[in-house]
Amino acid sequence: MSVDPNRPSAARIYDCLLGGTHNFAVDREVAERAVALVPDLPRVAGDNRAFLRRAVRLAAARGVHQFVDVGSGIPTEGNVHEAARAADPGARVVYVDIDPTAVIHSRQILGADPLTVVLQADLHQADRILDDPAVRALVDFDRPVCLLLVAMLHFIPDSADLHAALRRYRDAAAPGSLLAITHGTAGSRTEQLEALADLYVRTGTPLVLRDHDAILDLFDGWDLLDPGLVHLPRWRPDPGDPPVGDPAAYAGLGAVGVRA
Ligand SMILES: C[S@@+](CC[C@H](N)C(=O)[O-])C[C@H]1O[C@@H](n2cnc3c(N)ncnc32)[C@H](O)[C@@H]1O
Repeated sequence: MSVDPNRPSAARIYDCLLGGTHNFAVDREVAERAVALVPDLPRVAGDNRAFLRRAVRLAAARGVHQFVDVGSGIPTEGNVHEAARAADPGARVVYVDIDPTAVIHSRQILGADPLTVVLQADLHQADRILDDPAVRALVDFDRPVCLLLVAMLHFIPDSADLHAALRRYRDAAAPGSLLAITHGTAGSRTEQLEALADLYVRTGTPLVLRDHDAILDLFDGWDLLDPGLVHLPRWRPDPGDPPVGDPAAYAGLGAVGVRA
């Protein structure tokens, strides 16, 4: 597993946006240019993490205590296992990321934690992930799981392989399982967000901004829970969360679906 410090990575750029320290000069340069284009990007990244924690809490409240987090990123405050274990100390978590930096730091933080598994894999390798012996030993797929694809599908273009992988995850999920997705969208700021997408071309994981309907398509076979696919801070806000500004200008959408 090798980390290339000369090529910016989506995982490390996101770490910069969240104020983390697991990044290189090339990542900080892209993050600075990204914020110059879309000044509220760090706030959207923070809103995304807050959505993640609310989705995990919802899963726990519905009795789901197994999580498969694909595109999990570099661990930062409020990781899935922390949010999940606040509700159930026995919660089990599989972290998967394509990026070696994310995998190395996840393994460092989790150490010998027996209730987590960290894999380096591509979302498209659904069979490899689902059939991995360590994953099978940790997760009981006869019981509901919560699959998290949070702020990661906008790095994956539409293809037959993507939709086959999404079907494979869905078919492996027992009834009552949950799918949480957040996704970048251009809203009313097409030009700004397209310029942002151009910046990510250098990372090897170009940004693919989908609109509301195209994101809904990713939930094929899952029934959306209220309030459906909405701007991140509008999805089941916590009491006291600040009011949301113009939703049309907002760059992130999120929803949680349940497997019927
Ligand atoms: C913006 S970060 C999101 C991290 C975390 N899910 C969150 O929302 O805080 C996106 C992550 O997706 C990962 N990623 C991108 N394409 C991927 C793929 N095909 N398979 C697995 N991970 C991928 C990146 O390496 C990066 O760590």
